[in-house]
Amino acid sequence: MQDPKLFKDIFYDISEWKVSSFSADNFCSERERLRLEEEYISITEITDKFTRQSVSYQLSKKDSLHRWLKYKEGFSAELVSLLIDDLNIQKGDTILDPFLGSGTTTLVGMLNGVNGIGFDILPMTKVALNVKNSVFLYDVAELTQLRSLLESINVPSDYKGQANYISITQGAYPTNTEKELSYFSQWNKQSDNSEEIKSLITLCILNSLERISYSAKDGQYLRWDFRSEKVQEAEKRRKEQGKKPLSTTLDKGPLPSLKFLLLEELSKVIADIELIQQSVDDSLFNSAKLTFIEGSALFELPKLEADIINGVITSPPYCNRYDYTRTYALELAYLGKSEEDVKSLRQDLLSCTVENKTKIERLKDHYCALNKLQEFNRILNIINSNKTLQEINQALISRHINGDINNKGVLKMVDGYFSELAFIYAELYRICKPGAYVAFVNDNVRYGGEVIPVDFLSTELAEQIGFTPVKIYSLRQKKGNSSQQMKKFGRVPLRKSITIWRK
Ligand SMILES: C[S@@+](CC[C@H](N)C(=O)[O-])C[C@H]1O[C@@H](n2cnc3c(N)ncnc32)[C@H](O)[C@@H]1O
Repeated sequence: MQDPKLFKDIFYDISEWKVSSFSADNFCSERERLRLEEEYISITEITDKFTRQSVSYQLSKKDSLHRWLKYKEGFSAELVSLLIDDLNIQKGDTILDPFLGSGTTTLVGMLNGVNGIGFDILPMTKVALNVKNSVFLYDVAELTQLRSLLESINVPSDYKGQANYISITQGAYPTNTEKELSYFSQWNKQSDNSEEIKSLITLCILNSLERISYSAKDGQYLRWDFRSEKVQEAEKRRKEQGKKPLSTTLDKGPLPSLKFLLLEELSKVIADIELIQQSVDDSLFNSAKLTFIEGSALFELPKLEADIINGVITSPPYCNRYDYTRTYALELAYLGKSEEDVKSLRQDLLSCTVENKTKIERLKDHYCALNKLQEFNRILNIINSNKTLQEINQALISRHINGDINNKGVLKMVDGYFSELAFIYAELYRICKPGAYVAFVNDNVRYGGEVIPVDFLSTELAEQIGFTPVKIYSLRQKKGNSSQQMKKFGRVPLRKSITIWRK
């Protein structure tokens, strides 16, 4: 079979995107990374077809349906549509996303009559899917009535309920807002509305949490307003110790009430539902089937049958220390997760934080239980014999010893990240039908002056597993370096790529 002619647009001079120095000041060996660069630059194409907006949540914000869960890590519906077309995925086929997030891949698939299978460890995905999948089931008149009913509900002055919290989210809301949160949640749970409607209210509450709270999602962490319990206590301690007040706190200004935002969110969703029901033919959507499993792709993929998938479109967590369980702590606590649950979710994440511990022993036990020890050993062997990964691991150790990486967790994270991805790639190879395409959206990264070519190393691991590398699309706009890295080691281009492989 001939590969589809993917995205023939303007061609750019590739040399600008080619990395000629991987190790700042030639501190470490970069032979393997340079070899990879020569090997895969010939299938790398710089494209304008995708933009930073389309591989991020920015376009989704404008898309009705896809924007229903505020999920900054999501990619856009437009990107998935382009890939579905270009990877020859047809009505009646089955598409898979092992890192489903807000559900973009399977949702766009279903709108094209494509069946979907998805995994994610976070409970927000299930809520988003319950609602998005019901888009053609909702009765707009019933929802409008529900909105009016909500408008008339007020929290009784003697109400004493409290919202669920974990240590990160303690004191996250003003007292009255916390009461509102508890009251409206209880009201939703106890109402005799359908499950779809209850999920819709839950989704609207989830989308309101950050704005009603004293916190703000900011890169890897939550930042806190000066009025929050956390900041107030920290300031008190500082004063007692004779220290200056903190300079990094936020002032979020007046905070809206939950009821106000809930009504606002509901109005937006009702308008979207009305628009979609009027303008989109539901027959394709209704012909498609969705299977979602809340669990780790690493442990769930090995349970799937072989040769069942026609295409994969996905974006794993990036290897960038971003901790979903911290950024989404408010949402996790709201959905009833305890301290222990959140800790265990953090360990379930594909290793992308400095706190992740190795999963290799757990994976071995799992493959053993599934009677697949031989496969486990084959994958582990590919990982352990990959010279590029060895070079990167060695470089990071040297950088750590030299004081260029102060958190040793980075070393474990990078090794764990690629080892776990290799397991994912191997399982995808097994469950894809021959000829199926796999598309991964990912970012290259840099630690301690060492560039890690996530796109090319992933492609090498995938090739060792059995895939044929087809194309590596790099966005014209490159990713910026962190200011710390730039100051110390200078600027290097960091590609944002979509790697395409064929079984
Ligand atoms: C970059 S986001 C994907 C966003 C998605 N493309 C969208 O449009 O919303 C990566 C997702 O991987 C999930 N994730 C992390 N580790 C996982 C694991 N071991 N198994 C399944 N999902 C995981 C995260 O919870 C997150 O939702």
